[in-house]
Amino acid sequence: MRKKIIAGNWKMNKNAEETEDLLNELIDKLPNDIEAQIIVAPTFVNLASASDHLEFTNIVVAAQNMHQAENGAYTGEISADMLQSIGVNTVILGHSERRAYFNETDSQLAYKVDTALKHNMTVIFCFGEELKDRQDNQHFNIVENQLRDGLFHISNESWENIILAYEPVWAIGTGETASPDQAQEMHEFIRETIRKRFGSDIAEDVSILYGGSVKPDNAKEIFGKPDVDGGLIGGAALKADDFVGIVNGLR
Ligand code: G3P
Repeated sequence: MRKKIIAGNWKMNKNAEETEDLLNELIDKLPNDIEAQIIVAPTFVNLASASDHLEFTNIVVAAQNMHQAENGAYTGEISADMLQSIGVNTVILGHSERRAYFNETDSQLAYKVDTALKHNMTVIFCFGEELKDRQDNQHFNIVENQLRDGLFHISNESWENIILAYEPVWAIGTGETASPDQAQEMHEFIRETIRKRFGSDIAEDVSILYGGSVKPDNAKEIFGKPDVDGGLIGGAALKADDFVGIVNGLR
């Protein structure tokens, strides 16, 4: 069912003590009168403690990645079963930094999606164009291809486990936020692309988050757009007041 979601992707930030401090601040400061799902994605080493820490709250813990294999000789990797064994049932897949720095391909991501769905995990599937793609007016094609090649093989039933996160690469960490109209235009295109392939019910029910330099002072206008269902937040997720300010942008 389509819902408002604010997810914090902490990336490679916060050690064990800093993670506990930030979680305590969020528990203390996050509003409890906003109908939205709040998700935080600490680093792997802090997932178990975060999962314990948040057990009796409504805050969901997500992993920032996972391997597609069930287990085996994959040094440094983490499996779905390992995540679920510490109470983590949500995973971010396909983040542009994984695609860029670790050469994750659409076909590898399709495999990761299948493994996550096999474990009945919730997948936050990330995608988005590079600046040059937009300058060449190829951004719609790029996004459609990423969705088709990484996600559109799934069954209709699997869509209840999917959260989409459109993150134009040129807006990530740059302060160059997509304008609310740019975000709405792409989100509308994404929803229409899903409608054509999977039908109106699935298209209407899927939550599509925007990510890319969301801050407290721009969140409200972006989230106010009809096809924007929340945000996937990077830098601003690392400070409780900023993350809370963004959540309040849903009001
Ligand atoms: O996954 C969210 C992230 O890529 C956005 O980063 O710092 O632009 O909010 P930031």
